[in-house]
Amino acid sequence: MDIPTLRDSWLSIEKVGDEAVLYFYSHLFMEHPEVRDMFPLSMTTQRGRFFAALGRIVSNVDCLATDAAFVQQLGRDHRKFRVVADHYPAAGASLLATMEYFLGAAWTDNLAATWAEAYRAVARIMVTAAEEEASAPAWWEAEVVATERRSIDVGVLRIRPNQPYSYNAGQSMAVQIPQRPRLWRYYTPANAPRPDGTLDLHVQIVAGGQVSATLARTVAVGDTLRLGAPIGTALTLSADFRGDLLMVAGGTGLAPMTALIEQLDERWRSTGEASNVYLFHGVRTQRNIYDHTFLSELAGNRPWLRYTPVVSDDPAYPGECGPVGTVVAKTHRWQGETALICGSTAMVEHAAGELRRAGLPASAIRFENFDGGHPDNPTSNTSGAPTEMAHQVTTWH
Ligand SMILES: Cc1cc2nc3c(=O)[nH]c(=O)nc-3n(C[C@H](O)[C@H](O)[C@H](O)COP(=O)(O)OP(=O)(O)OC[C@H]3O[C@@H](n4cnc5c(N)ncnc54)[C@H](O)[C@@H]3O)c2cc1C
Ligand code: HEM
Repeated sequence: MDIPTLRDSWLSIEKVGDEAVLYFYSHLFMEHPEVRDMFPLSMTTQRGRFFAALGRIVSNVDCLATDAAFVQQLGRDHRKFRVVADHYPAAGASLLATMEYFLGAAWTDNLAATWAEAYRAVARIMVTAAEEEASAPAWWEAEVVATERRSIDVGVLRIRPNQPYSYNAGQSMAVQIPQRPRLWRYYTPANAPRPDGTLDLHVQIVAGGQVSATLARTVAVGDTLRLGAPIGTALTLSADFRGDLLMVAGGTGLAPMTALIEQLDERWRSTGEASNVYLFHGVRTQRNIYDHTFLSELAGNRPWLRYTPVVSDDPAYPGECGPVGTVVAKTHRWQGETALICGSTAMVEHAAGELRRAGLPASAIRFENFDGGHPDNPTSNTSGAPTEMAHQVTTWH
């Protein structure tokens, strides 16, 4: 398969932008009106996500040869949209029709055959993975059992899945709320798995956001949320992990860190084995430090945990001030810890850059960013982090 030509042709389509996205969806919904209901009613912010991912993943088909896990996970995760094998030729035909329309004379028979072959290879893996998972739920329902407004812009929800829901600390899952049908967004449990199965979500209200404000403000006790399967491996720790950790969180990027701290705490309480954890939580103003009481008390009782809130936009704050990445690089002397970073793309990009400049090797830095789509997507390095680091953490796990 001619991979460079495949990638080049996709780059040309990316340059077309919104017009190609619009063409793709119009083609898909006109030829297959039955799939329209799987997609959000209004697709303004989301519109490009599926199409962009589709082209990127198919044009990186060569990665499948070394590791297909990401695409398998994607296939299993598509069960929550009610996608089945019969739908794949429809999306493939619309993808190829869009390429043909915009590439004009550059769309040769050879190129068409290459794209068709690459699409079939990706689709086959997604379909097989989904079919192998057929006995597991396509989604889980979870009841909201408590809500709390934790700070001016963060709501905390406690939910209880109605069937066993198995995940690892540091993973996330897609969530759909009853008030916003078909608008799935990822959220991250802020706790390690509990015996009673409940999960806490930290939800930052994003101005103009379609889901976060309603989730944090309107969703109430007794409401039922829908959850996709747990996903993401960049921030998880294997059971035999024994190193120390430097955690750098921005806003609700704190959620996976508190889940991991709980996981380590459990090990410490049962075996006495501790990993040193240096947690830095970056927020804009003092009022945004939303888990201060809990974390300071915990750090007071755990010799292995140090917690430092960092405020970026208020020089009068009587603690650490500045962008969290800069403060970490300035105040923390790296001693071989693994660095975990989580927050917005801008925050992750900045913190990763500062840590690299402070001498951390790429292999010591792992990250997840909250603005992207499906975690672990090896073809989207939206964080802008150094390429070798992106390869290190977003391999096809
Ligand atoms: C793997 C993963 C895990 C996540 N976990 C959490 C979590 O635990 N807690 C949490 O609060 N969020 C989390 N997010 C972000 C979450 O999925 C949503 O993107 C966020 O809640 C905004 O959704 P929305 O529908 O309100 O905004 P949208 O309607 O999707 O977006 C509205 C506008 O806001 C912009 N925008 C989107 N997200 C942000 C942001 N974070 N900051 C600033 N601008 C933004 C968009 O670009 C758009 O212009 C996670 C994201 C990923 C990919
Ligand atoms: C090779 C085939 C496919 C690939 C690589 C692919 C990839 C993706 C990716 C990466 C996303 C974004 C997920 C996220 O960010 O959470 C997505 C979303 C989606 N996909 Fe697919 N997909 C494929 C086939 C299909 C098919 C056949 C259908 C059904 C016709 C479908 C329906 C959807 C829907 C409904 C969404 C959500 C869109 C939204 O929220 O706006 N996909 N897909």
